[in-house]
Amino acid sequence: MERAYRVALIPGDGVGPEVVREGLKVLRRCSEIEGFPLETVEYPFGGEHFLRTRETLPETALQELREMDAIYLGAIGHPHVKPGLLEKEILLRIRFELDLYINLRPVQLLPGVETPLKDKGPEHIDFVVVRENTEGLYIGAGGTIAKGTPFEVAVQESIQTRRGVERCLRYAFDLARTRPRKKLTLCGKKNVLTYIFDLWDRVFSELSREYPDVQTDYGHVDAICMWMVKNPEEFDVIVTDNMFGDIITDLGAALQGGLGLAASGNIHPGKVSMFEPIHGSSPKHAGKGTINPIAAILAGAMMLEHLGEKRAASRIHRAVRTVVKELRGMGAGQMGMSTSEVGDRIAQLLSMDED
Ligand code: IPM
Ligand code: MN
Repeated sequence: MERAYRVALIPGDGVGPEVVREGLKVLRRCSEIEGFPLETVEYPFGGEHFLRTRETLPETALQELREMDAIYLGAIGHPHVKPGLLEKEILLRIRFELDLYINLRPVQLLPGVETPLKDKGPEHIDFVVVRENTEGLYIGAGGTIAKGTPFEVAVQESIQTRRGVERCLRYAFDLARTRPRKKLTLCGKKNVLTYIFDLWDRVFSELSREYPDVQTDYGHVDAICMWMVKNPEEFDVIVTDNMFGDIITDLGAALQGGLGLAASGNIHPGKVSMFEPIHGSSPKHAGKGTINPIAAILAGAMMLEHLGEKRAASRIHRAVRTVVKELRGMGAGQMGMSTSEVGDRIAQLLSMDED
């Protein structure tokens, strides 16, 4: 018997458990159809667990996560816990400790989904953002002096390393090479962040010599935001640092029809990686059965792809393409179906043949 994939589930807070439930429904159905065994281990971490036990993510659990094949996460963040605490001690801690140095965020408008961009369709919006995921402002280097006084000083430094930048850029070049357009855009701010993006820029040109088949381009982050709205068809793969990647991918999610459809992978190639919808815990929608589970379901497809189950991942993509045409809207409460109906429908469509 084949060894089963062992997947850690962290449903987390707010709408997290609802979307993970549907994602799992779809993953289990894929495992039946394609015949790969799937084993899950569920962890309770998140806001409720913290409020009950004061525990965020214990060292022992982190050790267990290292031994898994993948991690499937819903959302972390709770209205009664100080902002930043759970994010830092659970989500960012997993990203850093497991060295998940790539945050991969596809931005693809599916046929039948409405984009807020006038006169743009699926042929214009199909790119991927490669966000560096373990460095930059997210390291949390800095501090406060004289807090609460008129003399308060706050410092938060963006730390970026040659190694960190190079491995991220290399991943992006490798990815661009696999795509039909083979175009890679570096998103920076080298006119102001002259140390950081000088480093990015130099490594980018060095590597570009190793990838003569990849067309390269550079844009400042502010201009890129404008171009994403005006001419999204310019982009194929965008690579950028942690903070800029965070910001431009929310814009990207809006272009592809909203956070209800935006998935992401926190990846260390060849090692245990973590997959999650980009949307957060969205407490105001929690428990109503109205949230769109497609982002989580697509994160599940990214996970299967990472595990090498490409056929199963394509099944999910095909099913999602069908279902989005059946939904009235993509936002919470606008779908004309409940969260579990969407999950059921996608699970049902998985056995559909390739067209
Ligand atoms: C994301 C989120 C996180 C981030 C938060 C919740 C810490 O916004 O995954 O984009 O800033 O990376
Ligand atoms: Mn974000």
